[in-house]
Amino acid sequence: MVNVAIIGLGKMGLSHFSIINAHNDVKVVGVCDSSGYVLDILGKYTGVATFNDMGKMLDSANVEAAVISTPSRFHAPMVRDCLERGIHVFCEKPFCLDPADSVALAELARNKDLVTQVGYHNRHVGTFRELKRILDSGALGRVTHVLAEAYGPVVLKPKGGTWRSKKEEGGGALYDYAAHPVDLLTWYFGRPDWVAGTVLGQVFSAETEDEVFTTLRWPDGISGQLSVSWSDDSHRKMTTRISVWGTNGKIYADRQEVQVYLRDATSAPAGYGPGWTVRYTTELTEEVDFYVRGEEYSAQLDNWVKRIAGGDLSGSADFAAASITDEVLHTIVNGADAGMHAVTALTSTDAARSEPPTTFGSRLRKRLRSIRIRTKR
Ligand SMILES: NC(=O)c1ccc[n+]([C@@H]2O[C@H](COP(=O)([O-])OP(=O)(O)OC[C@H]3O[C@@H](n4cnc5c(N)ncnc54)[C@H](O)[C@@H]3O)[C@@H](O)[C@H]2O)c1
Repeated sequence: MVNVAIIGLGKMGLSHFSIINAHNDVKVVGVCDSSGYVLDILGKYTGVATFNDMGKMLDSANVEAAVISTPSRFHAPMVRDCLERGIHVFCEKPFCLDPADSVALAELARNKDLVTQVGYHNRHVGTFRELKRILDSGALGRVTHVLAEAYGPVVLKPKGGTWRSKKEEGGGALYDYAAHPVDLLTWYFGRPDWVAGTVLGQVFSAETEDEVFTTLRWPDGISGQLSVSWSDDSHRKMTTRISVWGTNGKIYADRQEVQVYLRDATSAPAGYGPGWTVRYTTELTEEVDFYVRGEEYSAQLDNWVKRIAGGDLSGSADFAAASITDEVLHTIVNGADAGMHAVTALTSTDAARSEPPTTFGSRLRKRLRSIRIRTKR
């Protein structure tokens, strides 16, 4: 039995509380939130010990493991406090807003033999796991390009007032939405070595971006693009889709299905032939003991609890893995609008003068000259 505390009881914290409170191998020994309202209700209807201060809870309750689901700017200091007390941590995503904190905390946890995980629940979605299995099998050949997309209806009019609308608190579509597809990319392909052409676009928000578009490149030559908007109400809820092209075919995966096209299926996993094969979430999703929001939310917490029981320090979306995602997010923020090249409108005179000649440039000049000659006649 693991003694668990929940810190932060908003949208995610309440969901985590309900899942972990029903787990057979867990005892919830305390919950904490800075707002009294939610504590009164939870204390009254569940009997759980409630606290309005994390330090007081950790001093008085016998906490072995903590789930942290406070607004993102609190993650780093709260995680540090827990780790220093020898407490295993599950932290919501994004792990830390400053990747220097992420790396330091991953090292601290490792030095103290603590089991860590970040709430990248897509790693527990059957179709995204199947995509990883196919990629790892090498069936796609050499991967050339990946497109990671996420769209949904979070901000559909100008508004503010919560931490989600403030950049310095971890608000904005990059940390709220793009973190998920970026994490899938780092899970599939590791750390990219550069990011370029970033656009952080505003649709309705004044202080944060609502759209994220960027290009990535991995050391082995894979190129990638990210396309994210949280101001897209053509989707009822967040919809994530990954498309991968390789020398032997192509894969699309979303939460519902994985569609695989292979030219040659010789090295493909069983069940995949040449041409299209489609597998659905219904056959790829494992049952969970307690369902809230989606199986992946229960599966990720169950995975963390089992890793604690087994002393399994390395695992999917542990702090070391989540640090790579934080590094990419940080690079995207810092590189926004950098390295842009002006597109110049050419006149025929400019074109004739432009140096050095290129195949395309010389063809263009020739064409412009012929237009000029015809105009003169
Ligand atoms: N994995 C996902 O799909 C997903 C989805 C939504 C949010 N999140 C992440 O979960 C975290 C929380 O998001 P949310 O939507 O639940 O936010 P929220 O605003 O609904 O809830 C945050 C809660 O933390 C409490 N809180 C604030 N400061 C505190 C403090 N110092 N001590 C204790 N409690 C404090 C607030 O009172 C509130 O109840 C964020 O990091 C967010 O990025 C992840």
